[in-house]
Amino acid sequence: MNDLELIKLQTRCVSHEIRNHVSICDMYIEIIKRNMERDGYDNKSVANAIECIKKSLKIIGNSLIDLKSMNNYTPQNCDFKRIVEEGFQLSTPYTQGKNIEMKCFVKNTAQIYVDENKFLACIVNIIKNAIEAIEIKGEINVIAEIKDNHGHIRISNNGKMISKEKQKEIFEEGFTTKPTGCGLGLHICKTNLEAQNAELKLNKSTRTITEFEIIVPVNE
Ligand SMILES: Nc1ncnc2c1ncn2[C@@H]1O[C@H](COP(=O)(O)OP(=O)(O)OP(=O)(O)O)[C@@H](O)[C@H]1O
Ligand SMILES: [Mg+2]
Repeated sequence: MNDLELIKLQTRCVSHEIRNHVSICDMYIEIIKRNMERDGYDNKSVANAIECIKKSLKIIGNSLIDLKSMNNYTPQNCDFKRIVEEGFQLSTPYTQGKNIEMKCFVKNTAQIYVDENKFLACIVNIIKNAIEAIEIKGEINVIAEIKDNHGHIRISNNGKMISKEKQKEIFEEGFTTKPTGCGLGLHICKTNLEAQNAELKLNKSTRTITEFEIIVPVNE
């Protein structure tokens, strides 16, 4: 791939991320509006939505900086449990209009050394895919733990399975099976995670369950 093609790909990837997170903000603003009308200001859901919007705006800002530089990683020590739970929170608005039981369980915690915004964006992309794989009703589980000096985040869903042939292609840039998909989410996740010494795998996809796993080293 030549430099021009690389820049083109980078630009598309970044705008893809911006769009993802702008849509989160839009959905949360809608929630705030409805809650304000119903209950007034003092409302947990409103407070949570405001926090999520703030976080998403941070991610948007971070993505915009990416347009200027190909290598914009700002790693810092982050609490594993907090970052998984925040990623989970950020993703939940995508379930609107569906009946999805979402569960997140973080067994233990440690410090991981990652670019927080980019790590969060990966968790969001994977959960968003899980939600999109469920037509109307289903279940999503996020189970995270520290084991053997690594953080493991397993994200699973029921719903549409990924055929054996497609499993070879899902991480490729541009591969999508969705009418409005870009085929960038998993490519961005893999690239970002590998740049941070982390890993993204598809553990399995059967008729009953599809499971992705992020593995990130713990900061010693
Ligand atoms: N949890 C999942 N269950 C079933 N299929 C999945 C799952 N995650 C990914 N896929 C498959 O992998 C493909 C690529 O995913 P990817 O996130 O890269 O792109 P996309 O979701 O199609 O579009 P976008 O760029 O908007 O994310 C999807 O189109 C889908 O076919
Ligand atoms: Mg996707």
